[in-house]
Amino acid sequence: MSTLFVPRERRPGEARVAATPETVKRLIKEGHAVWVEGGAGDGAHLADAAYEAAGARLVEARAGWEGAELVLKVGPLEPDGEAALLRRGAAVIGLLAPHQNLPMVQTLAARGASALSMELVPRITRAQKMDALSSQASIAGYKAVLLAAAELDKYFPLLMTAAGTVQPARVVVMGAGVAGLQAVATARRLGAVVEVTDIRPAAKEQVLSLGGRFIDLPMQESGEGAGGYAREVSADFLRRQQEIVANHVAAADVVITTALVPGKPAPRLVTKEMVERMRTGAVIVDLAVEQGGNCELSVPGEEVVRHGVKIIGRPNLPSTVPGDASMLYARNVLEVVLHVAKGGTLQLDTADEIVAAMLLTHGGEVLHGPTAEKLKEARAC
Ligand code: NAI
Repeated sequence: MSTLFVPRERRPGEARVAATPETVKRLIKEGHAVWVEGGAGDGAHLADAAYEAAGARLVEARAGWEGAELVLKVGPLEPDGEAALLRRGAAVIGLLAPHQNLPMVQTLAARGASALSMELVPRITRAQKMDALSSQASIAGYKAVLLAAAELDKYFPLLMTAAGTVQPARVVVMGAGVAGLQAVATARRLGAVVEVTDIRPAAKEQVLSLGGRFIDLPMQESGEGAGGYAREVSADFLRRQQEIVANHVAAADVVITTALVPGKPAPRLVTKEMVERMRTGAVIVDLAVEQGGNCELSVPGEEVVRHGVKIIGRPNLPSTVPGDASMLYARNVLEVVLHVAKGGTLQLDTADEIVAAMLLTHGGEVLHGPTAEKLKEARAC
């Protein structure tokens, strides 16, 4: 039997929790003991009593960190607090954002922890139920449209009223991955006209099937990289893309940007000049703000008005829908636990494709190549 611990998330603005009473019940049925820090589910409106009723034991944070063999987290660990408290050789599962948390990675490796990063779940059919990037990105895309609609000075749908006709809002979505496609679907449901740009040719069909219009780019260079993700395109290509997209942005009421390239800073798609050409009262929501931003003028964590355009750089939108975000994330985590701890005992098979891809640190080593590279660069500086 393994002891699992679910701490309260301490990152400011984080309302999600990594296990719900529903997943706790299932974990206990699998043979695990589950400890939950008091108040862990408060942000998602999941009461301590509901966890207890599901069979969990409520514990203090220190007892949980020091005693558990497997910790279930949402966000990264504090390097000096949480990571340092983790029992030697214990395992942790979470959206660990290793690139942005090198000190945490170092502490985890030094403690011999097996850290499984939810961002590293491979995008293969077998692992779809574990895909937290998708479950959370979809929420972010949905919420981005709602934020924009709430801020905008006009209706989204076409309306014919006795007082006259209201033209539908024009929305441009940049990046048609999971978040972008959910943004297209949500904006379409609200009645907007939606145009989309992406550099992966495969995105066009998906956009059209949702009722969006695709902004065609001269695809001399395909932006399709490994595993269905985008790859970094040349500066020339990016400039050409900006020229083509600029007129669509100038005519837009709302721009939602979601473009990402794994392991790289977010591509700069909306320049200052493009913002200057937008109308006063238009709204931009930059979902890539935590990876450097798709818009040159967005500020992480802030809503700013530049040239009359409101630019929303709010990080962690999934946390603003904490109930469903926690429910889906907890199910993703449950699937990972069922995979790595069959029969109630944690057994990491490093030869398994999913485990090998997810393992950030193990046996005192940093196993994730790009993170190990970054650490090396940081040490050389
Ligand atoms: P992501 O979050 O890494 O990137 C978002 C979008 O930005 C991507 O569509 C990408 O092509 C686009 N992008 C990058 N540079 C751009 C630029 N210069 N201009 C415009 N757009 C740009 O992607 P996400 O959402 O994680 O999905 C990536 C792919 O993986 C998609 O094809 C998705 O359908 C696929 N996928 C497959 C799954 C599976 O097979 N289990 C599960 C989830 C996603």
